[in-house]
Amino acid sequence: MGRIFITGDTHGENDIGKLNTRLFPIQKQLTKDDYVIIVGDFGVCWYGGSNIEQTNPGYEIPPRHRSYVGKDDYLLDWYERKNFTTLFIDGNHENHKLLNTFAVERWHGGLVHRIRPSVIHLMRGQVYEIAGSTFFTMGGASSVDRMHRLEDVSWWSAELPSNEEYEQALDNLDQCGWKVDYVLTHCCGSNVLCQMRTHHPQSDKLTQFLMSLEGRLEYKMWYFGHHHIDRQVDRNHRALYEDVVEL
Ligand SMILES: [Fe+2]
Repeated sequence: MGRIFITGDTHGENDIGKLNTRLFPIQKQLTKDDYVIIVGDFGVCWYGGSNIEQTNPGYEIPPRHRSYVGKDDYLLDWYERKNFTTLFIDGNHENHKLLNTFAVERWHGGLVHRIRPSVIHLMRGQVYEIAGSTFFTMGGASSVDRMHRLEDVSWWSAELPSNEEYEQALDNLDQCGWKVDYVLTHCCGSNVLCQMRTHHPQSDKLTQFLMSLEGRLEYKMWYFGHHHIDRQVDRNHRALYEDVVEL
């Protein structure tokens, strides 16, 4: 049975250090049957890889990104070389337009974008069975630094889920009987937000939606990122950033 580790935002190369061999030495014992899950703000699919025309047909490269196409390869190669399979949900700091032009496939019971053979985007509103545990995933969040960003260059409106993604989430939860082992999101529900004093104080449609799942959805633990803190907020909600926890 594969081992599963979960950690917080990596932001491209900015916060990738926690997955270095020195800080995460256990990876030497792992294989591609083991998993590291990043709960949003993966930030690697940003400019596109050098074979973007094959991997992302239909993606229109923003003029300001044109000279950087191919820049994603270095980090994707880094993850691909690791002794584990990398899974990530999307956060707010992702190029959602680029992510959404990767081919969709079904993997372990839910829909994914396979970025590389062992780098996989867990899409919104999905339920997966991975190494003996079940997971509900719902990426996305609001950017508090929106005012410093340019639309379709460094900020994308799809940072928050569409109506279809909310509907798909509810349908998939209906199908699994509203019971999973773990919930993985980037932001947390408004109820959890109230218990935290952070720099992300605002409630929005997604945090309200996540709150609305409470009481109906049965789960053991809910992991989320976004707040750039490591904190066990209450019995079954844990904010992750630098910590790499094993399930
Ligand atoms: Fe972040």
